[in-house]
Amino acid sequence: MHSTKPSHSKAAVVFTPEMMAQVEHFTKQYPAGKQKSAIIPLLHIVQKKYGWVSVEAQDKVAELLQLQPIEVYEVATFYTMFHLHPVGQYVLEVCRTGPCMIVGAEDICKYLENKLGIKEGEITADGLFTWRTVECLGACGYAPMMQVGDNFHEYLTPEKMDKLIGDWRNK
Ligand code: FES
Repeated sequence: MHSTKPSHSKAAVVFTPEMMAQVEHFTKQYPAGKQKSAIIPLLHIVQKKYGWVSVEAQDKVAELLQLQPIEVYEVATFYTMFHLHPVGQYVLEVCRTGPCMIVGAEDICKYLENKLGIKEGEITADGLFTWRTVECLGACGYAPMMQVGDNFHEYLTPEKMDKLIGDWRNK
């Protein structure tokens, strides 16, 4: 899937020709009558473009796949990887499960709250950051850790967080 900078806006959901080409690519991979299997890839297409998946976007996915909207809502609300509200350009997902918690995940969250000046789930004024907690991401041996986009950041410390945040701010 192409990685374009998401708009993160509340603008109306429009499937661009490029998005429609991706929709076609994914829907063709499933036999007739099994289009429901393309829900997740199509939600990813929307999230890559807009940064989150609104109800309106979920309705459009349902329309494109000729499904009932509830069939898409069920999937979008089940997986925490789909953002159901607007988020910052960088979503810092800090693991809060046991192994990460006992080596400082809570301190990392407090650090983020102070450093970014936002509570969990909020967006910084510059639109750059949101942080949230998530369950185990399968990298317990590298705790404490977080996921940002497609990347894991491990053995987190305040110094590491400062460096990462500084780099993202300067991009
Ligand atoms: S507990 Fe944090 S990655 Fe598993």
